[in-house]
Amino acid sequence: MASTKTIQIVKQTEPVLAKYKEDITSTFYKNLFEQHPELKDIFNMTHQANGLQAKVLANAIFHYSKYIDQLEMLSGAVEQIAQKHASLAISPEMYDIVGAGLLEAIKEVLGEAATPEIIEAWAEAYGDLAGIFIQREEQIYKDFEVKPGGWRGYKSYAVVKKEVESETITSFYLKPCDGKGCPEFLPGQYISVRVKGDAHSHTRNYSLSDSPGKDYLRISIKKEPAVKDFAQGVVSNYFHKEVEEGSLINLGIPSGEFTLKPGDKPVVLLSGGVGVTPLMSMLNALMEQGKRTVYFLHAAKNSGTHAFASHVRQLSDQSGLLKSYVFYDEPLEKDLCGKDYDYQGLVSETVLRSILPSVEMDFYFCGPTPFMQNILSILRELGVAESNIHYEFFGPSEELNAVPSVE
Ligand SMILES: Cc1cc2nc3c(=O)[nH]c(=O)nc-3n(C[C@H](O)[C@H](O)[C@H](O)COP(=O)(O)OP(=O)(O)OC[C@H]3O[C@@H](n4cnc5c(N)ncnc54)[C@H](O)[C@@H]3O)c2cc1C
Ligand code: HEM
Repeated sequence: MASTKTIQIVKQTEPVLAKYKEDITSTFYKNLFEQHPELKDIFNMTHQANGLQAKVLANAIFHYSKYIDQLEMLSGAVEQIAQKHASLAISPEMYDIVGAGLLEAIKEVLGEAATPEIIEAWAEAYGDLAGIFIQREEQIYKDFEVKPGGWRGYKSYAVVKKEVESETITSFYLKPCDGKGCPEFLPGQYISVRVKGDAHSHTRNYSLSDSPGKDYLRISIKKEPAVKDFAQGVVSNYFHKEVEEGSLINLGIPSGEFTLKPGDKPVVLLSGGVGVTPLMSMLNALMEQGKRTVYFLHAAKNSGTHAFASHVRQLSDQSGLLKSYVFYDEPLEKDLCGKDYDYQGLVSETVLRSILPSVEMDFYFCGPTPFMQNILSILRELGVAESNIHYEFFGPSEELNAVPSVE
């Protein structure tokens, strides 16, 4: 626990630092990647370019510093971040680098206003915060390492099958090169994939898209197109174009808290586009368990981009427990309503009311941010308990500020 003096200084200076947080963070990252180019292998450099991660880190550090005298308040947030860090194999040494870099950036931006006393207080505060993450992350590493098929850091896997799921999404089946078998994971969890690039390696998260207990791990990747003047997605296009059966891929450990909670309530799985991947893992696991009713709602542009369509149709033909509904917002001429899809347009409150007999269910959703904002606002409108609402972002976590639903 930080000293009373440190607590006082951090609380007094937090508003000033928060005011300059964008400057401090951009200075921090600039210095960090100049002095430690090896960290470009870990950070998503596209998030750096579009400013997303810069905002997340600055907000997190300044936000958490407000709780310096009651760090236990942060436990929920710590777990989510620790899971993300664990997937990326963040080590204690990296915390030293980040801590030193952050203090250097504060000095650089604030100049003489950053007195030695202030810097010392922030060093102590960062040290306390870092200590919490380091401890939790080490626990995650230790627990996973001793599990059957477990490892620490990254492990080499071979692609054993490449399967096209739609015009934009392709699945990759992966088996460990050491032949030791695949680890258990929780449906909904993701792994990191690290691939070599020209200047540095690239690391990205991908949800595991099949249920656990198989002799392979599966990821399903959407190829990201060029947007405006920006080049097409680096890693997703590498997978689609360069990765073939026999290619070797480095995988981080399965992580994340977006996982099926135990219970016997019906489950509602809602996905938009490639957001379907963690929900496919959940769906397959629930069907294998054969106990809970599942409402599976998926929104795609049309049959061209609709992944896993025949698999889900097959499951729902086989099991009375699965009720599947498909939404297309831009159906093709050949797409038939009632056959290829059930509703045209976005998921709406009216449709959800007509499908679900009650809202006493567990809701899980994932998709593009506007899709998620729409779903969250509908669920709140329907009066779903917050504790029954679970979602995952395919990027740095954002606040899902409620926006008006489509109705
Ligand atoms: C927990 C989690 C799970 C995920 N699961 C999946 C999954 O199962 N399947 C899946 O396909 N993806 C998943 N993702 C997303 C995945 O991690 C990658 O973000 C995605 O594949 C894009 O990576 P990329 O390297 O291809 O694209 P990037 O190179 O990161 O580029 C992404 C997009 O940004 C654009 N861009 C580039 N530079 C800029 C800039 N300066 N400003 C604005 N835009 C720019 C590019 O044109 C491109 O369209 C998941 C993400 C998370 C966090
Ligand atoms: C106390 C210190 C730290 C805090 C408060 C912090 C906070 C965060 C937060 C809030 C996120 C976003 C999580 C999410 O989107 O769910 C994140 C992601 C991340 N963190 Fe940290 N972090 C810290 C230390 C570190 C260190 C030491 C490293 C390693 C150099 C690191 C590397 C990363 C990376 C690579 C990501 C993923 C970002 C991306 O998309 O590129 N963090 N961190």
